[in-house]
Amino acid sequence: MTRRDLVQAARAARRRAHAPYSGFRVGAAVRAGGRVFEGANVENASYGLTICAERAAVVAAVLSGRRDLQAVAIASATSPPTPPCGMCLQTLAEFAGPTLPVTLAGARGARVETTLGELLPRAFGAVGLPRRGR
Ligand code: THU
Repeated sequence: MTRRDLVQAARAARRRAHAPYSGFRVGAAVRAGGRVFEGANVENASYGLTICAERAAVVAAVLSGRRDLQAVAIASATSPPTPPCGMCLQTLAEFAGPTLPVTLAGARGARVETTLGELLPRAFGAVGLPRRGR
């Protein structure tokens, strides 16, 4: 499973997005435990209920028992390619460290290879909580 395969999975997921309100379709694919989990944005007439592609993919991995993310790809049609929103970065940080490879794939083959740590430096995490595991 190369980064290219992960981008292909994210692009395939993007085609299944439900984005009638924004018209902005996003696909995501995460690699976890040797498998790939896809997600796409799913909007709602009550706009605030929208689920982003990245969080949908992470939830799919977690529900399958895989919490250790190894890589993520996000597909949009923008140039430069769209990065994950703040909420999605925080969700990724729950299940991956700063070295997590993040591939952003946009219009006409536009690519950005980055890491979670670059997109979300000094992330908040469980270690910052006074009481863990409660
Ligand atoms: N969106 C994502 O799916 N991922 C992001 O990280 C940024 C935003 C979606 C949410 C909404 O359906 C549309 O893009 C416009 O904000």
